[in-house]
Amino acid sequence: MKHIDGIVYKSSSVGETMDAGEDFAKKIAGMNAGIVALYGDLGAGKTCFVKGIAKGFGIAETVNSPTFSIINCYKNGGQQLYHIDAYRLKSAAEILNIGFEDYVSEGICLIEWPEQIEPLISKTAVKVRFTIESETTRTIKVEKA
Ligand SMILES: Nc1ncnc2c1ncn2[C@@H]1O[C@H](COP(=O)(O)OP(=O)(O)OP(=O)(O)O)[C@@H](O)[C@H]1O
Ligand SMILES: [Mg+2]
Repeated sequence: MKHIDGIVYKSSSVGETMDAGEDFAKKIAGMNAGIVALYGDLGAGKTCFVKGIAKGFGIAETVNSPTFSIINCYKNGGQQLYHIDAYRLKSAAEILNIGFEDYVSEGICLIEWPEQIEPLISKTAVKVRFTIESETTRTIKVEKA
């Protein structure tokens, strides 16, 4: 994985947020497995960013928010991408019961609302923080311990 701590993307549109996700995908190529925690308010652009990441990993399938399904899985070649939306979870146990630890060891887990399962977010996870600056602008910051 390239040096990613401190990367900042500025976005003025949905397209630019997807482009940022696509660029980020290149930066984490070689990560293979682990957690990418996506922090940010409702409508901050987390799902948009994940769409870009999927594109960057060469996934042709349409990426939709797993708000109701909790988890969606995508695959390209040997690389698995899991997209998790923890918003509706009430406890970390709920996601452990559906195999969370296996997902984290098998592929890259992109997690929206990681606050909901904070005890499961390892200290070494990649953290991406989204800030709504205005109706159409977002700041996206990458942190890696
Ligand atoms: N620069 C921008 N980047 C991304 N989305 C933007 C931007 N400007 C406006 N938007 C709007 O913000 C919303 C972002 O939606 P998205 O589903 O990606 O957010 P989210 O962070 O996943 O929210 P949720 O927590 O509800 O899942 C969309 O309605 C989009 O049109
Ligand atoms: Mg979302």
